[in-house]
Amino acid sequence: MTLTRAVELLRQGQVIGLPTETVYGLAGDGLNPAALARIFEIKQRPLFDPLILHFAEAEAAFSLAATVPPQARQLAERFWPGPLTLVLAKKEIVPDLATSGLPNVALRVPVHPVAQALLRAFGGPLAAPSANRFGRISPTDAAAVHTELGDAVPLILDGGPCNVGVESTVLDLSGEKPVLLRAGGISLEEIESITGPVERAQPVDARPQSPGQLKHHYAPRKPLHLVNEPGEIPVRPDSAWLAFGPVSDSFPGIVANLSPSSDLREAAAHFFRMMRSLDDDPRTQAIYAQLLPNCDLGRAINERLDRASARVET
Ligand code: TXA
Ligand code: MG
Repeated sequence: MTLTRAVELLRQGQVIGLPTETVYGLAGDGLNPAALARIFEIKQRPLFDPLILHFAEAEAAFSLAATVPPQARQLAERFWPGPLTLVLAKKEIVPDLATSGLPNVALRVPVHPVAQALLRAFGGPLAAPSANRFGRISPTDAAAVHTELGDAVPLILDGGPCNVGVESTVLDLSGEKPVLLRAGGISLEEIESITGPVERAQPVDARPQSPGQLKHHYAPRKPLHLVNEPGEIPVRPDSAWLAFGPVSDSFPGIVANLSPSSDLREAAAHFFRMMRSLDDDPRTQAIYAQLLPNCDLGRAINERLDRASARVET
């Protein structure tokens, strides 16, 4: 059976493609430095960007934290299993490679049934960054993982399309006040309903103080331009429009509509797949994306659009 094979590969220190409810991950044994090194190598990810450790349940996750503040337990109670990652002070046993030498570790309990089944069968933490090459569009189905990583992985578990579609929310609870490091599948509004006001970390240009905050990320190969209104998009057959809400039939270019009914959850679920398809469409030269209402999952999508459109300084 595939699950048995997956566990066997993980025990050997190999890494595999793994579905979660957010995006597909590139998973390896979270306590095996050789497996962690392999993840960085395949992803071409800089070693200063630490990994999230995944667990089947909260108690297992918290067992690797040096201290678990009451807020972490409240959030876990409410949102785990699900698309939330908590950053807490780590225990000694967590390898430096997983945390990039930081004193904190990122912990998450995914809800996807295949991820759950694998975590239970494996019986330990799995480190899993999104299964894309560093800086590129995250994969939300097994075929996209194959496009990103090709034969670099011996196995990709197919769990169908991801139903959340954007990565987990990353919340740092290691300090006095909670800090949002990445907007994601659990909205800021939902988090704040439990924690009260949350601070936001600011994106940076080069080597981040708080990792994962690089300005340029999630990027298509084609130029991506952000617009506030559809009227700003050049009316040309080679324009690709990543739309949200009603779209006029007369637009001559290629349209991918994140949600014709303006539903932010639906938009998140389609986001990376539609970006990828516009990027791959030979008929278009540039992608024009409409910014979404900046609330709930719209904030997570806008943050990704913003970083996907940022040019790298060379
Ligand atoms: O939804 C997700 O979280 C997906 C699926 C596969 O679980 N994983 C994912 O991993 O998005 P990755 O590696 O692409 O993003 C992890 C984020 C990065 O922004 C990283 O900098 C941050 O979490 N992170 C990890 N460990 C951290 C730490 N110790 N302190 C601060 N930030 C951390
Ligand atoms: Mg990623």
